[in-house]
Amino acid sequence: MDLSADHIKSLHKYELRVLLSIEYLMGRYSWVPEEELVRNSRLSAGEVHFRLSRLMKKGMVRYSNVPYPGYCLVFNGYDTLAITHLVKKGIITALGDCIGEGKESRVYEALGTGPVILKLHRIGQRSFQTVRRGRSYLPENQHCPWVFASHYSAEQEYLALNALQNHVKVPTPLFMNRNVIAMSYIPGDRLADCTLDDPGKIFDELITQVRAALQLGYIHGDLSEYNVLYDGEGIWIIDWPQWISPGHENADEILDHDLETITKFFHRRYR
Ligand SMILES: Nc1ncnc2c1ncn2[C@@H]1O[C@H](COP(=O)(O)OP(=O)(O)O)[C@@H](O)[C@H]1O
Ligand SMILES: [Mg+2]
Repeated sequence: MDLSADHIKSLHKYELRVLLSIEYLMGRYSWVPEEELVRNSRLSAGEVHFRLSRLMKKGMVRYSNVPYPGYCLVFNGYDTLAITHLVKKGIITALGDCIGEGKESRVYEALGTGPVILKLHRIGQRSFQTVRRGRSYLPENQHCPWVFASHYSAEQEYLALNALQNHVKVPTPLFMNRNVIAMSYIPGDRLADCTLDDPGKIFDELITQVRAALQLGYIHGDLSEYNVLYDGEGIWIIDWPQWISPGHENADEILDHDLETITKFFHRRYR
């Protein structure tokens, strides 16, 4: 089920309270027992039960009987907590359409003081183990439910966007909460979806940007025609959560792969 603005708008304050309690208690439980939720939320048992059924209908919470009866947050619930926070902080006033759905994220248009992009990081349960192995920022032995892994992924991207700001053409990061980043909207198309009049010039510009990022200590790690936007004048590099530093043991290999992918694309498309 997709997350919709209506689902978030129609959220009752007790539903929000139950969501926050589940989030908090998931630090201790993989599946949060209902009686713990009653204690933590300070609502009556009947109220908690009713609110949980509503949250499950909205696809924000999941129930399991195994290994013991309990509830956990799923992405829609975690996204909702983050988006509600962004609204409270005045970063956005309205949630628009989902404009992109990738392997590890959903991208929504939203409205703040102007158009804003919300990137909801969603590291799937299956890729979580691989991600944990490959990305040194995830806590090794700590209990870390996979919804929360997405928070680390967002944090990594936010770090890169902030560091590269003013030096490399990347979206301006506005705010981050949980697994969600608010950033400036780039009016443009992916290189994969447009035809350039002067590909040679754009290719050179891209290499200049990659070099500038490298000098600041950032190697993209997933550079491709899908992660570069063209706005009619110049290019913007997006999608940074998997960046690595030049000190990383596979840095040379990963940088080579980035450059090769982009060079091959220009050859194929504009030879
Ligand atoms: N700041 C932005 N401005 C405009 N469109 C964006 C922006 N960020 C992402 N998008 C759109 O959303 C798509 C997915 O975003 P991306 O960061 O590449 O995530 P992923 O590939 O992991 O799903 C992009 O291909 C692009 O079309
Ligand atoms: Mg991408």
